[in-house]
Amino acid sequence: MKQIVVLTGAGISAESGLKTFRDADGLWEGHDVMEVASPQGFARNPELVLEFYNQRRRQLLKVTPNAGHKALVQLEEKFKVDIITQNVDNLHEQAGSGNVLHLHGELFKVRSTADENHVLTWKKDLVLGDFDENGHQLRPHIVWFGEMVPMLEPAIEIVAQADIVIIIGTSMQVYPAASLVNYAKLGTPIYLIDPKPNVNENDFESLTIIAKTATIGVPSLVMQLIDH
Ligand code: APR
Repeated sequence: MKQIVVLTGAGISAESGLKTFRDADGLWEGHDVMEVASPQGFARNPELVLEFYNQRRRQLLKVTPNAGHKALVQLEEKFKVDIITQNVDNLHEQAGSGNVLHLHGELFKVRSTADENHVLTWKKDLVLGDFDENGHQLRPHIVWFGEMVPMLEPAIEIVAQADIVIIIGTSMQVYPAASLVNYAKLGTPIYLIDPKPNVNENDFESLTIIAKTATIGVPSLVMQLIDH
């Protein structure tokens, strides 16, 4: 069974109603990244950071997967599919995708500030005074700017095995996530689906750009790959 690796960013969840980061009216337009998504910001003003993620968690409870997420589940009929996402929403899992690796953490998880491996599922607001069993403050299980990306090595190994790579809805501006595609074997077909692609055809060998939204571009590529 051929292996398809799908690299997704905020754009695949845009049509579900979740803001992206760098589009007009994106999340980073209304917030200073270093204030709400960095360890320094959390140390300086924990309430502000916790409220930023509480707002995003509350919103995630109200949205559902779109045709882009669902088409990727269909791919599993014919291919081994691994999804490596920069997104912290769980819309791939809600749609039914089986193998989802979160590079930047998960909104519905929190962890102890004293032990990064002590992770809990958490779907309500998180506030100061919400402690782990040992009395340590809990924090979002999110990779903040300047923090390590613990899942990077496993992600690289997965991309290195891909027979096909599909990139959906990412501006390819944040590293190391943006470098992952470079670990694909030479000659691996790469498809990029984005209405405003931030790369051009000769950036990567054997790249096909599909300048469409996820709900249009992903289902049509999936049909093409399944019927191939
Ligand atoms: N369908 C597909 N792609 C879309 C759609 C859509 N409907 N709408 C927007 N896009 C594209 C944009 O054109 C852009 O290229 O999605 C991309 C979103 O880019 P960003 O907002 O930069 O999001 P992302 O690439 O996921 O950001 C990476 O940056 O802030 C950090 O940790 C955060 O994981 C995030 C990382």
